[in-house]
Amino acid sequence: MKLKINLTLAVLLSLTAAVKAQNVDVAKALVPAEKQVDLLLEKSEAATAGDAKLIAPRTLENGQLKLVVGRDWTSGFFSGMLWYLYDLTKDPKWLAPAKEFTHKLAPQQYNTGTHDLGFMIYCSYGNGYRLTGDTSYRSVIIQAAKSLSKRFNPVAGVIRSWDHNADKWEFPVIIDNMMNLELLFEATKLTGDSSFYKIAVSHANTTLKNHFRKDHSSYHVVDYNPKTGAVQWKGTAQGLNDSSSWARGQAWALYGYTMCYRETKNKVYLKQAEDIAKFILTNPALPADKVPYWDFNDPLIPNTEKDASAAAIIASGLYELSGYSKQAKNYRKTADQILNNLTEKYTSKAGANEGFILVHSTGHKPAKSEIDVPIIYADYYYLEALARSKGGK
Ligand code: GLY
Repeated sequence: MKLKINLTLAVLLSLTAAVKAQNVDVAKALVPAEKQVDLLLEKSEAATAGDAKLIAPRTLENGQLKLVVGRDWTSGFFSGMLWYLYDLTKDPKWLAPAKEFTHKLAPQQYNTGTHDLGFMIYCSYGNGYRLTGDTSYRSVIIQAAKSLSKRFNPVAGVIRSWDHNADKWEFPVIIDNMMNLELLFEATKLTGDSSFYKIAVSHANTTLKNHFRKDHSSYHVVDYNPKTGAVQWKGTAQGLNDSSSWARGQAWALYGYTMCYRETKNKVYLKQAEDIAKFILTNPALPADKVPYWDFNDPLIPNTEKDASAAAIIASGLYELSGYSKQAKNYRKTADQILNNLTEKYTSKAGANEGFILVHSTGHKPAKSEIDVPIIYADYYYLEALARSKGGK
């Protein structure tokens, strides 16, 4: 009898250990992360002080900190990171720099030349509004949603992504653009004006129809005829080739449809997010540590670059999806695994890399740009995933 009890106890203890091993020790992960961001903040303060146009850090170029101007699509991630550190640690020391770097983005609320306003304004002002309720932030969010809405074409039913390469594309829409819809959903909640919501839903529905292959992988770019709405080309800009699955694109899609389900409760979006998760998580090209290579179809796998940013976005998306799906356990376990692997194997050495947290991201390999580097949006979604791993936003 005693032996039986001991055995049961041993089984229970080992099960607890197995579950615990999958859990994320957020407090432990935050110790080096905070130290790194202390350094990134110090370096960024110094570098932006002499140049009012450069407002936020983006990556390392030849080992040097590279900063960006406000209109760069990555300009809102650093302030977003500072808000997440404030959120996660409750340490008021993050508040002043979070506000300072957020306010540098104010002119962007009127920027109608980019589809990236969601990234720029929602990661910065959106998190700031969530955490402080500052009403001046609310009006920036609403104005940014108005600016973004100007890029919507009702005939095609989508928001235009890029204006560049006009000789190649007439009305290009990239899968990344799903991420900007969150700003529109929020604007409807703040104003009661349903036009933002309707644009977001139209974009999500049209993208669902045109961007995905049978296996639920996503093209990067779809080009529309702006007069008829007809699809005239499908392919890639940042992936390996037109029929490949660029890792970060799949990550944006997963996160984007999960967020759309949260905002609409439309089951079609939930199914889409689950199908995308299946494509990613059962893909034979996904390595054991679940940090994808930069493109799922690179024939050089495993001798090619990883994209830690895609992994961080996938982890964050899976945490949210686990709150809605019957496959909750699997998604949460996988997100924990990714987050633990990022923490253990993909973080900078203390004091290295000018203070970026994660290493091994790939920005734009075909352009030979930002290959195997630290990159600000990897750090942003890493911190967001840490927050979500313990039930945060
Ligand atoms: N949205 C641009 C990128 O993911 O690189």
